Amino acid sequence: MIGLGLIGYGHWGPNHVRIFNHFHDSCVRIIADTDSQRLKAVRQQSPEVELTDDYKELLRRPDVDAVVVATPVSSHYGLVEAALLAGKDVLVEKPITYSTMEADHLIALAEKQDRILMCGHVFLFNAGIRRLRQYIDDGTMGRVYYMTATRTNLGPVRRDVNALYDLGSHDVSIFHYLLDDKPVEVGAWGEKFLQLDIEDVCFASLRFPNKTMCHMHVSWLNPRKERTLVVVGDKKMAVWDDTSPLEPIRLYDKGLMQEPYYDSFGQFQFRLRDADVLIPKLISEEPLKVQDRHFLDCVQNRQRPLTDGKFARDVVETLESLMVSMRGMGIDRASKRSKPTANRVRRARV
Ligand SMILES: NC(=O)c1ccc[n+]([C@@H]2O[C@H](COP(=O)([O-])OP(=O)(O)OC[C@H]3O[C@@H](n4cnc5c(N)ncnc54)[C@H](O)[C@@H]3O)[C@@H](O)[C@H]2O)c1
Repeated sequence: MIGLGLIGYGHWGPNHVRIFNHFHDSCVRIIADTDSQRLKAVRQQSPEVELTDDYKELLRRPDVDAVVVATPVSSHYGLVEAALLAGKDVLVEKPITYSTMEADHLIALAEKQDRILMCGHVFLFNAGIRRLRQYIDDGTMGRVYYMTATRTNLGPVRRDVNALYDLGSHDVSIFHYLLDDKPVEVGAWGEKFLQLDIEDVCFASLRFPNKTMCHMHVSWLNPRKERTLVVVGDKKMAVWDDTSPLEPIRLYDKGLMQEPYYDSFGQFQFRLRDADVLIPKLISEEPLKVQDRHFLDCVQNRQRPLTDGKFARDVVETLESLMVSMRGMGIDRASKRSKPTANRVRRARV
């Protein structure tokens, strides 16, 4: 039986408690939250679990083998560091940290302490995203030309990170996973409408080594809840819609092809391929459950997780580069000159 401690019982933490208490070989023994109202909520939902407002108490417990950190991003670094130093395996929510430097330190510490460090990039455990990866790996899609992701909703509004770090971390993790690579060039635009220093909306573009382009639109200031990804390859095109649980993927046998031979200029044209649409049957299991099961398996078998510190660090590296671009990008139309920091866009290679 793996004993767990959870730090942060806010919006997302209760899901981990439900799932780890559902498995036959794990049990949440203690929950820490600095907010007494949240501890009251645990009392009602899980009366058997022990509670504390001091996470250090949780780290001192010998019956806690692993710690789940589900607090705001700004606190991840300090809490994960303390948990690793206390000899605990750690599952931390996404993104792992705010900076690459912090993530590098945590990776080195986990190595030194011989502890498992995993980040909750939950979409890598989503059946639809995994099927897309399969279609890319087995050649079904052909060469991937571009992908475009939309992740919008009205709220919830974060106060410690912007929409890029909060929502965009999901799409960056998906792009990295599907292409099994990191971007070589990035650019982003964002704007702060609700709060002084936090972007609510971000439009970002990323170019990967084989010229694959990716684009994402993330926002918590939008009337529609959308969770979509379009993948355009030279053999097939696919649309993933996470708000459609029964049919999340549609695979289109569509494309435009050049005629291989032509005798005259008039014959030089593209042939339209517009054939069947496949809706694959996916075994739908709650992605968070698959993710948390993977963490337990890694803890039990001492295996490196799919979303280990290195994967999570690379996501942060891309987010950091996008931030550099977002905070400096633009052409001043009056002077027709780049804004002072605009050159960073081209240099923001990762
Ligand atoms: N994977 C997903 O789809 C997903 C969805 C939502 C949130 N998240 C992630 O989960 C994390 C938490 O998000 P949330 O929406 O639950 O936030 P939240 O603000 O609702 O909850 C965070 C909780 O942590 C507590 N807390 C803060 N600092 C603490 C500390 N030092 N010690 C103990 N408790 C502390 C707060 O009191 C609060 O109850 C974030 O990293 C977020 O990115 C992931």
